[in-house]
Amino acid sequence: MPRKTLYQTVYHRLRYQILSGDWPLGSRLPPERKLAEEWAVSRNTIVHAYADLESEGLIYSRVGSGRYVQPLPPPSALPLLNWREQMPGGSHLSAPSLMTELNALLGTRDALNFAFGEGGNHTRLKAEFAKGIDPLHILETSDADYLFPVQGHLELRKWIAEWMNCEQITSPTQVMITSGSQEALQMTTSILAGPGDSIAVEMPTYFGALHLFQSLGLHLIPIPVDGEGMRVDVLEGILSRTRPRFIYTVPTFHNPTGTILSMERRRQLLALSEKHGIPIVEDDAYRHLHFEQEPPPPLKALDRQGNVIYINTFSKVLFPGLRLGWVAASRPFMERLTRYKELSISTNTFVQHALWSYLQQGTFHAHLEDARRHYQRQAAVMDKHLSALVAKGVSYATPSGGFYYWVSLPEQVSPKELLQKALQQNVVFATGDLFLPRETEQPYIRLCYSHETEEGIEQGMRILASLL
Ligand SMILES: Cc1ncc(COP(=O)(O)O)c(C=O)c1O
Repeated sequence: MPRKTLYQTVYHRLRYQILSGDWPLGSRLPPERKLAEEWAVSRNTIVHAYADLESEGLIYSRVGSGRYVQPLPPPSALPLLNWREQMPGGSHLSAPSLMTELNALLGTRDALNFAFGEGGNHTRLKAEFAKGIDPLHILETSDADYLFPVQGHLELRKWIAEWMNCEQITSPTQVMITSGSQEALQMTTSILAGPGDSIAVEMPTYFGALHLFQSLGLHLIPIPVDGEGMRVDVLEGILSRTRPRFIYTVPTFHNPTGTILSMERRRQLLALSEKHGIPIVEDDAYRHLHFEQEPPPPLKALDRQGNVIYINTFSKVLFPGLRLGWVAASRPFMERLTRYKELSISTNTFVQHALWSYLQQGTFHAHLEDARRHYQRQAAVMDKHLSALVAKGVSYATPSGGFYYWVSLPEQVSPKELLQKALQQNVVFATGDLFLPRETEQPYIRLCYSHETEEGIEQGMRILASLL
């Protein structure tokens, strides 16, 4: 094929962007100078391309205001694709994009971030992790350039099964590595329930789960949460009348409330699951980040019949960019999960090797101890500021692990208005409605202490206090 001139490349690129709808009908095109800078070409090249597109009738100029894509579809011999009609199966669009909203709020601003619950924001971990990984060595000495079995890195799965330390999970065949626990949750949910089915869910709940469930067209039966976690008595009443496909719970350092399901309620919940034959999906992302005392055992460790599907992640104990999580469950479910996972081939092989190399250094458990102390100190700073706000009508419960304070605001304060004011001063947090179905306006905000340094928390909390 003869090489295109620079002009032709620019012209075809612009033409493609207009015809494919990247630049919607009627939209304003970038000024010549700006586009020339962006695409690193001369301004003349853009002027020339715009002129040709104009004579083709694809764009027009308005004096003093720039160039626009014609508002009507171009007279073309071939019909243009109507993307809306091409994408009828977009049930995932029916739910609001909470993720997009939060990201947009943060944008590119360098805000004090109390919004995102991320692990790994401390430098020593990064250095240790990097030290343990030699990419070339991994590529030369392993099969990292190829695919694992669908379930993932065998040694890593053995390590996870051992780390879980419960009699129900003893073999790597009971563990599958996934792309973060979000993928684990997405696959599990899709296997267990379909559009129109009901599931029982703590309310409030982790917004990624809420978003997922709503996107899949599931009907959510809300189960309230109090200081001891899920109100299992309410669930019991509901199960006497209806039969959800599964029960989703974050029983340990719940997101967003930080609560722990008491031992008694753990037993009651399992008994209900057994009595009614309903699976439990246990999302245990924060278990290992306790400050002092270890939390009660996972539901999975108390599971007598294999009713619990256990999900966890390295995102909180290490960092979320790894995108490595896992599912541990009994054989029939794992077999089905394996078939489902085959649809995306497998989880990133190279990264699983990298994690395995790091774990072999043997510093992980010391790191975990460090991380616990680290988050405990950060939580204490936030607590100090929150306790000073009690006199202003703020209330909250102090968590004993995890990443979050679930804060109830004084009656007259709107969480959304507070967020707008806070954003003006470069502080961002999550409003409570993100963790509840849309209709429910609640006077809560969630403050996460994992992201900022102690100084950042001091600074951000002083700003929040001044706004209340
Ligand atoms: C309860 C809970 N589950 C799952 C996730 C998602 O984690 P991952 O990064 O492993 O997808 C989060 C992240 O905030 C979470 O809070």
